[in-house]
Amino acid sequence: MIWSARTLVAFAALGEAVPQFGGGGGSTMLRFGCSQVVIDRIDPLVNPDLLPSPHMHQVIGGDSFNVSMPSADIGNLASCTTCNFADDFSNYWTANLYFKARNGSYKRVPQIPNRLLFNDKFTTQTSGGFVVYYVSPGKGKVTAFKPGFRMLVGDATQRAKKGSGMKSQTCFRCFSGPNFGGDNASPCADAKLDTETLPAGQCLGGIRSNILYPTCWDGKNLDSPDHKSHVAYPSSGPATFTGSSTGGDCPASHPVKIPQIMLEIVWDTKAFNNKADWPADGSQPFVLSTGDPTGYSQHGDYVFGWKGDSLQKAMDGGPCTGASCANLKTQVIDGANKCKVPKRFPENYDGWIDRLPGM
Ligand SMILES: *[C@@H]1O[C@H](CO)[C@@H](O)[C@H](O)[C@H]1NC(C)=O
Ligand SMILES: *[C@@H]1O[C@H](CO)[C@@H](O)[C@H](O)[C@H]1NC(C)=O
Repeated sequence: MIWSARTLVAFAALGEAVPQFGGGGGSTMLRFGCSQVVIDRIDPLVNPDLLPSPHMHQVIGGDSFNVSMPSADIGNLASCTTCNFADDFSNYWTANLYFKARNGSYKRVPQIPNRLLFNDKFTTQTSGGFVVYYVSPGKGKVTAFKPGFRMLVGDATQRAKKGSGMKSQTCFRCFSGPNFGGDNASPCADAKLDTETLPAGQCLGGIRSNILYPTCWDGKNLDSPDHKSHVAYPSSGPATFTGSSTGGDCPASHPVKIPQIMLEIVWDTKAFNNKADWPADGSQPFVLSTGDPTGYSQHGDYVFGWKGDSLQKAMDGGPCTGASCANLKTQVIDGANKCKVPKRFPENYDGWIDRLPGM
């Protein structure tokens, strides 16, 4: 079964009556919203102990997020989370998006909640933040991450295309309708729908950013010096997102199948559609918090923090659909929105600013 329009419409209509998303083989697809836990200039994975880190991030998940997060079981350290699943104390963070007006001033572009799917109202009420997916392979076993596990997708210094084709780890989709409607086409798979660069034209309904993590692990290391080489994409190349399978076989060097994580951010560009404020040369005005107007530097950091074996149980079959899973506790949106991490580096990141934080 693939991430097809027909499947999704059928499942969305049936809502919670549907036992699981995947077609046979016990495949699981979790899709759930997490509110923002903090926006801050820290990066405990790439720049531990550095305050401030080089650029701003938006962070979701548990409240043990900090300037450094030594390899420990953060599922036990955190006391609350902004995510739908109450046992997910992981942290996920990405670049922020800013609008640069013709006069040179910047303003942060806010995120809006994703659309309603599977009757999941939590995800439509998040404050800031974004959506996280976890997919098990269509067949065969998936091994959930171990305490202390972390990884990184993308490169904050990248400014040009690497490799060929659309099989990208990060991509953007431009929504041209007046409101964000989402759609069911697989992200980062079709160059007619998605771009690796920030969209060139106006996106009246917003810009969506997808980040796809590797699906294979070396089975030994919880991290690596570049935070990437302990994980890998399948031998056939980066797995695209289908919602029910995690792509081809793993390479011999990284033989262990791990859940496929995908992040999905929706930026609300409505306040920035006045053409008179756009660059006079016709270029697009958005820039990532890395100082990058191309979009290639989008990246996603992940520090695993599910409590106990809760993620493994979900991956073993649930049954799970979107934000509802037989073996996983959920929380109400008010609880999630109350969970906050204090800002470690106080600075103005909203309102009009003269330069990007750290740039
Ligand atoms: C966060 O890190 C700082 C500096 O390492 C430390 O002093 C503080 O106690 C930590 N906060 C929490 C809540 O762990
Ligand atoms: C720059 O332009 C924006 C958008 O028109 C405006 O809101 C802001 O006040 C301007 N900033 C300065 C410093 O003039």
